[in-house]
Amino acid sequence: MAIFNQSHLAGQIKEKDMAFGLGLPLPGCLTEYRCFPAESLVSVPDYMTDEEACCLPIASVTAWMAINGRRPLGQPAKDVSGRESVLIQGTGGVAIAGLQIAHAAGLKTIITSSSDTKLEQAKKLGADETINYRTQPDWQDEVMNLTSNAGADIIFETGGAQTLRKSFDCIAFGGLINCIGYLSGKEDAPGDRLNTNVLALRRTVTLKGILNGPKERFEEMTEFYAQNKIRPVVDRVFGFEEAKEALKYLYSGGHFGKVVVRVGGGGS
Ligand SMILES: NC(=O)c1ccc[n+]([C@@H]2O[C@H](COP(=O)([O-])OP(=O)(O)OC[C@H]3O[C@@H](n4cnc5c(N)ncnc54)[C@H](OP(=O)(O)O)[C@@H]3O)[C@@H](O)[C@H]2O)c1
Repeated sequence: MAIFNQSHLAGQIKEKDMAFGLGLPLPGCLTEYRCFPAESLVSVPDYMTDEEACCLPIASVTAWMAINGRRPLGQPAKDVSGRESVLIQGTGGVAIAGLQIAHAAGLKTIITSSSDTKLEQAKKLGADETINYRTQPDWQDEVMNLTSNAGADIIFETGGAQTLRKSFDCIAFGGLINCIGYLSGKEDAPGDRLNTNVLALRRTVTLKGILNGPKERFEEMTEFYAQNKIRPVVDRVFGFEEAKEALKYLYSGGHFGKVVVRVGGGGS
């Protein structure tokens, strides 16, 4: 498996690494042949299919960093009693990887979705609590209820403009909000709102931007996957010639987990 930022092998990502991102600015991986520097590759665990393994480098490493990035290398989350809680937004690639990792680590998982059907699927993967963010637009209140008013210890902020303000209202004191994506937009709605400084301060929150993760963390994660026999959730596999349809399908948001394009073969 190729690491995302090809030069990011250990520790904090630096500006120089941004010149070596697969897909931006380097060519992406929708290609039949490609040479990678050996140091930028990670071994696929034996029990995984290629379709499953290709889900790991972006979605899973990002989810891994959201949960474990602040912990010492080699000591990922293993909740035995405290029941650290994680709030995961949506049921896309990063979210479902996060759900699988958090569940295997014993964390209490709360997941949101616009679809009750997807929430049922999430329960089968071990989601402890589910919230439909369409029928419950004030989902932050429900997160507080579900955590006995303590708030979630870790939040996967994949929504952005329409979700961050709500995340600040249901984060635990001293909690971690991981800024991962902006599926609901980049610009805040105009109107009266508290400054981010105040929002972070009032619950002593850490707001952490995530840009994937280094190779050393990818390898740490792969070991955890193997120990727990986690199989990435592949929603649908498209053939190489169907890559455009695959992207349209991804954009439609109908998927649960990951959408895969098989190199040199048909879909299923
Ligand atoms: N920072 C990084 O290193 C990094 C790495 C990977 C991805 N990302 C970013 O993280 C985000 C998620 O990536 P992904 O690959 O998981 O995307 P994805 O698979 O396309 O996720 C789509 C799902 O997100 C949910 N969603 C959409 N709008 C939402 C909203 N307003 N509130 C809550 N959930 C919403 C929907 O779930 P339901 O259908 O269940 O409602 C949708 O199906 C993207 O913005 C992506 O660019 C960042």
